[in-house]
Parts: sequence; C-alpha cells; structure tokens
Amino acid sequence: MKNIPVILMGCGGVGRQLLQQIISCRTLHANMGIHLRVVGVCDSTSYVLAPDVILAGFDDNFLKGLCQIKSDGLPLRNCMEHGTCESGSSSEFMTKLTDIAAHLHFVLVDCSASSETTKVIIEVLHLGCCAVLANKKPLTGSLEEFDKLFLHPRRIRHESTVGAGLPIIASTNRILSSGDTIVSSLGSLSGTLGYVMSEVENGKPFSEVVKTAKELGYTEPDPRDDLSGMDVARKALILARLRGIRLEMKDIKIYSLFPDKMGPDAMSLEDFLKNGLPMLDDDIEERIKKASSNKNVLRYVCIIDTKDISVSLMERPKDSALGRLKGSDNVVEIYTEQCYSDKQPLVIQGPGAGNNTTAAGVLADILDLQDLFS
Ligand SMILES: NC(=O)c1ccc[n+]([C@@H]2O[C@H](COP(=O)([O-])OP(=O)(O)OC[C@H]3O[C@@H](n4cnc5c(N)ncnc54)[C@H](OP(=O)(O)O)[C@@H]3O)[C@@H](O)[C@H]2O)c1
Ligand SMILES: *[C@@H]1O[C@H](CO)[C@@H](O)[C@H](O)[C@H]1NC(C)=O
Ligand SMILES: *[C@@H]1O[C@H](CO)[C@@H](O)[C@H](O)[C@H]1NC(C)=O
Repeated sequence: MKNIPVILMGCGGVGRQLLQQIISCRTLHANMGIHLRVVGVCDSTSYVLAPDVILAGFDDNFLKGLCQIKSDGLPLRNCMEHGTCESGSSSEFMTKLTDIAAHLHFVLVDCSASSETTKVIIEVLHLGCCAVLANKKPLTGSLEEFDKLFLHPRRIRHESTVGAGLPIIASTNRILSSGDTIVSSLGSLSGTLGYVMSEVENGKPFSEVVKTAKELGYTEPDPRDDLSGMDVARKALILARLRGIRLEMKDIKIYSLFPDKMGPDAMSLEDFLKNGLPMLDDDIEERIKKASSNKNVLRYVCIIDTKDISVSLMERPKDSALGRLKGSDNVVEIYTEQCYSDKQPLVIQGPGAGNNTTAAGVLADILDLQDLFS
C-alpha cells in the first residue's frame, strides 16, 4: 500500500469537505493501492499534528471530531479531547512544516484564503514536497513568487483555484503540452455575477437581483466583494500565467460594477444596498438594451488574449456558450490555433463553486500526485 502523507492548511467549508471525502473514499483508494494519511491540520490560529508524523496519521474518528469542532466554530486546539495530538499556534506550525519536510515528503494542501501561506509552500516544495491549492492568493502574488512555486511544475496542482472542480486548468495544460497555441480564453468565472447578469437580462432591476442573490447566500457577505471583479481577475491572472503571459495583478484592467465613491471605504454596506445600488440600475439597463439591439447579451467576462487580460462587462453573441449561460454556472471558451478554432471553441461549463466540487477538485489533484510517492 502506497502511503501519501497529507497536511491541510485551512479547515473551513472546503477543508472540512475534503477531510470528509478522504474518509468516505477509503475503500476506493485502497483498491487503487493508496492510503491518504492526514498527519496535520491548521486553521488561522492553531494547529494539530499527529504524535509521530513519520509513522502514523490521525485516525478517521479523530478527523470526524476535528470537523465537528470546526463546524461548531471552535479553534483546532480543542481537538485534544478526541485523541493524542500535538497542538500549538498557527505561526509555530509554519516553522514545524519545514522541519518535517526535511524528513518526510508530504502533500501540503492549502484550503485557506490567506496570502500568508505562500512562503511555507515555497519552502516545502524546495525540500521535495508537493502542494495542492484551492487558495488563489499564493498564485496571484508577485511573478517572482509564482516562478518559485512552479520551479518543479510536476509537484504543484491547483485545479480548484479556477472554476472549482471543473477541469479548466487541466484542459489548458493539456492543450499547451500538445503544442497547440491558445489564442484566447474567455470566461464567466463568477457564479454570482453569472447569476446576476442572466437575471437582469430578464428585465429585473440590477439592484433587486443583487439583493436577492445576497439573500440566497450566492454573494459574499458584502456583495461588493463580488461586484468589484477582483476574484474574477485573480482567476484570469492564474490562467494567463499558466500560458506564460507574464503579468502582475496591477496590469489587469478591472471594471468594477460600482464606482469608487460607493466602495467599502466610502460607504457602509447598509447605505450601499439601500441607496448606492439602485443608482446603478439605469446604466445596466441601458447597456442591456444596447446589447440586445446588436443581437448580443451582456456578460461579466474575463478575456485573456495573447498578451492582455481584461475583466469587464462585455457584449457576447446570444448563441455563444457565454451568451447561452443561465444561472450560476461557470463557463470557459478556449480558442486555439490548431484544434479549437473560431466556430468551435473548447467549452467547459458547470458549477464553479461549492464546498463539494471544490474539495473534489483538490482530492483529484492529490491523487494525481500518487506517482511521486513510494
Ligand atoms: N467555497 C468555494 O466554493 C471555493 C471555490 C473555489 C476556491 N475556493 C477557495 O478555497 C479556499 C477555502 O475556501 P472556504 O470556502 O473553505 O473558506 P473558509 O470557509 O473561509 O475557510 C478558510 C479556512 O482557512 C483558515 N485560515 C485563514 N487564514 C489562515 C492562515 N493564515 N493559515 C491557515 N489557515 C488559515 C480559516 O481558519 P479559521 O477556521 O480559524 O477561521 C478557515 O479554516 C479559499 O481560498 C477559496 O477562495 C473556494
Ligand atoms: C460550505 O460550507 C460552509 C461551512 O460549513 C457553509 O457555511 C456553506 O453554506 C457551505 N456552502 C455551500 C455552497 O454548501
Ligand atoms: C455535499 O456532499 C455531502 C456528502 O459528503 C452531501 O451530504 C451533501 O448533500 C452535498 N452538498 C451539496 C450542496 O451538494
């Protein structure tokens, strides 16, 4: 049986779902000759580590208890009651990881939403470990960091950073390694904005749709986090960098759906929802009408051509994959020189968020590293 040690950073919705899927796939993995041995987990304040990481990991009952404790909103150090483990602060954990990496090759999984994990990921990769990321932040820092992360490209996986479990990264990599050239990738990579734009198309005011989306839990607690386009820009930057387009975050032209004067620094959330949002309705309505008169629809898309990235509202043909999009699905159209030309792009569509699909993408990434373990 091949033993793959796993260390998890971040134990929120995705991290916990990952642990649950690891447990429920025990038999499947055993039939593949693989055992995923979870030896450490950390959250924003504390960590737990198995007593002897070289020899054993946590048992499944401990992991179930750990998920329960995190669901109850408690820090990980409360896990001591579920079995023997070492515990301490999150910052101590980062130094521990490099010590462990000197003796044990493991998969470091980043399901946090922090940019503070980048340094330790680079360090353990340097020491021969592997990394799997759902967290976009490490990949959207400086190019210098990005290069360090990809010094050994076989050892890093990050499918869930773009479109959750959808095989967007894998497809892009396969196209590139076949020698085809990607001319452009177009995407609707925010489930929230996809939902909003397809609802306003049916004649509902923008402000009402955003409020409904917030009530349904489709948006971040402050919907401006979605409407700013920052999250889409991060995903676009990851896709661009994969293609060798060497851009920094500041090079991306991001069209925010609200003006600076309605930003979080200038306006409270309450004020924005009540007074700010409705002021945006007329402009959007006008743009929708204009698109419609061109036989197009309005979408919030990112376009990555051969050198540039743009993230903004754009008209797309009604009969394109992006134009047909309804609801919260993500979709990407990839156009290449040889295989996927103008009329027949490669299209990848499906749910681009959710704990389950995101965790499934992470789990598949871990399994994809199996040949690097003995
Ligand atoms: N949910 C999705 O649909 C989805 C889709 C694609 C990608 N992602 C990405 O997946 C990641 C996880 O998402 P989520 O929804 O699970 O987020 P979440 O529920 O907010 O969980 C984040 C976890 O990270 C921990 N954390 C925060 N700062 C940390 C640090 N410096 N070091 C270690 N752990 C830290 C938090 O600790 P505490 O428990 O102490 O707060 C929490 O356990 C994010 O990067 C997100 O962008 C999510
Ligand atoms: C993801 O998990 C978190 C924490 O358990 C939960 O609050 C959230 O509703 C879940 N999201 C989805 C889409 O299931
Ligand atoms: C996520 O997966 C769990 C099983 O691990 C299942 O019980 C749950 O219904 C799923 N949630 C969603 C939103 O599909």
